[in-house]
Amino acid sequence: PYPVYSKLRRMDPIHQVRFPDGQHGWLVTRYEDGAALLKDPRFIKDFSKLYGSSMDQMSVFTQNMLFSDPPDHKRLRGLAQKAFTPKMIAGMRGRIEEITEELLAEMANKDQVDLIDEFAFPLPIIVICEILGVPSEDRDKFRRWSNSLIEGTSGEAGVSVYEHMTQFVQYLGQWFATVREQPGEDLISKLIIAEEEGDRLTEKELYGLVSLLIIAGHETTVNLIGNTVLSLLANPEQQQLLKENPEMITQALEESLRFNGPVEFSTSRWANEDMEFQGKQFHRGDLVVVSLNAANHDPERFLGPEVFDIRREKSPHLAFGMGIHFCLGAPLARLEGEIAISKLLDRFPDLELAVEEKELDWRPGMIVRGVKEIPLRIQ
Ligand code: HEM
Repeated sequence: PYPVYSKLRRMDPIHQVRFPDGQHGWLVTRYEDGAALLKDPRFIKDFSKLYGSSMDQMSVFTQNMLFSDPPDHKRLRGLAQKAFTPKMIAGMRGRIEEITEELLAEMANKDQVDLIDEFAFPLPIIVICEILGVPSEDRDKFRRWSNSLIEGTSGEAGVSVYEHMTQFVQYLGQWFATVREQPGEDLISKLIIAEEEGDRLTEKELYGLVSLLIIAGHETTVNLIGNTVLSLLANPEQQQLLKENPEMITQALEESLRFNGPVEFSTSRWANEDMEFQGKQFHRGDLVVVSLNAANHDPERFLGPEVFDIRREKSPHLAFGMGIHFCLGAPLARLEGEIAISKLLDRFPDLELAVEEKELDWRPGMIVRGVKEIPLRIQ
């Protein structure tokens, strides 16, 4: 997509889009405009304020911080943040290392693997399941359900996205009942206990938060791991640099987030009033999205943006968003990414793609940027 972005940035950086249903929208591709928009309170996330709640059956998936505005946003994020602390995340390091090593040990018996299926997918989903306290054996179900929601198609003949969502909600309902009977030390137990102690997360909000964490907790990190490996393989001198300087892993990950971020577009915002924004006239109800990857390739913000260079320092990329909705899980994603990539390269220093780069199949849908499979020869 990058040549298209580059043309848009130059010729029409706040590009007007008309959707088939008549909805008016805008696509923002420059860094400066994107960052300004993400911080501008005149653009809101809760579209029910403008259009009423037209997606009732999906509303459990939108009763969360990502689709809320102040003051609800502050309350919802605050309650989640209480359980999702930096200390809790730092405390996961040992366990993330252990899971990574187990997955690598299983791969070691083979000559060729699919990196996504055998490594990049299971690692973050096992981690988020353990944090939440849901059985990680059910991870294939979560994968099916969240892929369905993200890609807008169930991927199974005769099964609708709505059916998958219903199954997901039923699963969570049964799980919450089990936890209520026997709470543990996990995040869901903490939220449920807090709720019973008079805190304010309603039942619907609990569904909203847990489904958001399951979906956000793995759809993105899978692609962070996959895209980083692809960028390193396509740039062997950078891989060599990293091998010689393993402490550069933090920078390498930040560069991968900038260069090929797992989240293509911000989630939608809506203009809450008629207004002028960066010289364009917006009307109340207009939909707007920021292409995070286009912003992250803006030559006015990044020197030589089309070059993958792990030596960049302090990269102010937008891969985790900006403003009040800045990714809650960024510390966890960074920790998982660093451990995963370092250990993978340590264990298999001679990785190579088992297919031509152009044969890689990118995932459908507008939200995530990542490939379906990464066949690798590992020894
Ligand atoms: C929000 C990216 C991993 C939880 C966001 C947003 C982005 C993002 C761009 C803001 C969307 C917007 O403003 O429209 C990423 C990337 C990840 C990642 C690139 C991995 C590389 C995670 C993980 C978790 C998580 C591991 C949790 C376990 C969340 C939550 C929000 C969020 C809860 C909503 C925050 C709010 O609305 O206040 N993420 N994310 N993310 N992310 Fe992440």
